[in-house]
Amino acid sequence: MELDRFVFETIDSTNKWAKANLGKFRPQHLTVVAAAAQSAGYGRQGRTWVSPPGKNLYLSFCFRHPGRVDSLTEVVAVGVAQALEDLDLKPRLKWPNDVLLSGKKVCGILCEATSGWAIVGIGLNVNMTAEELQQIDKPATSLLLATGRGYSLKQIEELVEGAISANIVTFITQGFDPFYLPYTQRLIHKLGDPIQFDDGKHIWQGSFHKIHLDGSLSLIVEPNETKAFYTGDIA
Ligand code: BTN
Repeated sequence: MELDRFVFETIDSTNKWAKANLGKFRPQHLTVVAAAAQSAGYGRQGRTWVSPPGKNLYLSFCFRHPGRVDSLTEVVAVGVAQALEDLDLKPRLKWPNDVLLSGKKVCGILCEATSGWAIVGIGLNVNMTAEELQQIDKPATSLLLATGRGYSLKQIEELVEGAISANIVTFITQGFDPFYLPYTQRLIHKLGDPIQFDDGKHIWQGSFHKIHLDGSLSLIVEPNETKAFYTGDIA
């Protein structure tokens, strides 16, 4: 799949720009929108994504995809994990799409679908210092903080783009199946782990059961009852 790029110094949000400019993208190509800084980066549930200039990666991958995109975030999370493993790091995944290093979030993924297009944004904290990470309201880390060394943004971008593009091509042709094991093997959750889950309407107290073959989360919510969730947040 050919790759087209739109690169900005500063933009409000790469996902937002992509959604407003879908007409500029070639339907048979994968388009990457990249920015050095975002003035209004956002995450899941409308949260702010802290996006200082020249420190991190802010990328949106866009392609024609009229079908469901629920499991696409997991496919992209696997790609980010594979790229970090190429750097000898040991990332783990938290359902549905947080990438963690040493138990703290290093990358967030936001998948949106509109007019037959899928737009998957990733924010990867690369060279943010401990002090800069304090602007984030949840425990967060960066490659710099996790390893004690700085990274070339260009090198990380190449690695991440390569792994994610390859996974997107596989997802388009084969769906989530090839990613089920790569995803579940990297998960932090184990059968029976207590889980507090917010589905946007209700807070559930339950325990981890499994990930279904379509990527949804199965929770044990009563001794003999399981429930599947496609979106939501584990506390
Ligand atoms: C999350 O964990 O809540 C998802 C965060 C996604 C952030 C990225 S940065 C690039 C793209 N543009 C945005 O405004 N958001 C995504």
